Amino acid sequence: MTSPDPSTAEQWTAVDRYFCDLLLAPDSTLDAALLASAEAGLPAINVAPNQGKLLYLLARIHRARAILELGTLGGYSSIWLARALPIGGRLITLEADPKHAEVARANFTRAGVDSLIELRLGPALETLPQLAAEGRGPFDLIFIDADKPNYPDYFRWALKLSRIGTVIIADNVVRKGAVLDPASSDENVQGARRFNEMLAAEPCVSATAIQTVGCKGHDGFAIAVVVAESKESQHGSASP
Ligand code: SAH
Ligand code: DHB
Ligand code: MG
Repeated sequence: MTSPDPSTAEQWTAVDRYFCDLLLAPDSTLDAALLASAEAGLPAINVAPNQGKLLYLLARIHRARAILELGTLGGYSSIWLARALPIGGRLITLEADPKHAEVARANFTRAGVDSLIELRLGPALETLPQLAAEGRGPFDLIFIDADKPNYPDYFRWALKLSRIGTVIIADNVVRKGAVLDPASSDENVQGARRFNEMLAAEPCVSATAIQTVGCKGHDGFAIAVVVAESKESQHGSASP
């Protein structure tokens, strides 16, 4: 028997606040980035503060020197990731919307991380082939958080730009549980479902997914590590 679940979205938010107050140092730079994003009319779809810190911790744990992010928005998650870089490390972040890019660039400057970040403006399905053509990568960590319908293609590009050991994280793969519905008419849900299925079918990665509740409602993220050289990869297993 399971007991009735008393939790509500309000309680999830209160618990998020409890952990953020306890474990995240007050951070006027990140607050300013969110404020500038809100003032510019950007949607508040950045990762939650404790998820931003999780990205930072994962990048640190993995000692990621080269990070790729798909979907910059106002640069909130980018700042968390950039702060995890060692000296000489670099983050490339891809954003399609010029207004989002402009807000993000100002936020990077204010946060003092602008010299660590290369923001590439344009639809990711155009900037990813450019990165590949320039021989960029392999990346140590790739965070997929742009438009959900293209997640399957983003996964293919992530593999191409990976090496054995690359960590691939994809946000928003639960969508309030809507991901369970194979008949969903929501193209975001369909994108997440196809992505999850590809993750399951791809022998070159080992993956899991975690649901999250909190100030951003009920969603979740997938995390994978590249365990074998994929046919798609242009990088083999080389790791400096
Ligand atoms: N990672 C950010 C949130 C990203 S929201 C954070 O947590 O702070 C998703 C972003 O993807 C939006 O800014 C949106 O403009 C961008 N986007 C949507 N379609 C895109 C595309 N085709 N290529 C690149 N970026 C895209
Ligand atoms: C949406 C996008 C996100 O990256 C997110 O974290 C939450 C919502 C969206 O497009 O609805
Ligand atoms: Mg997201």
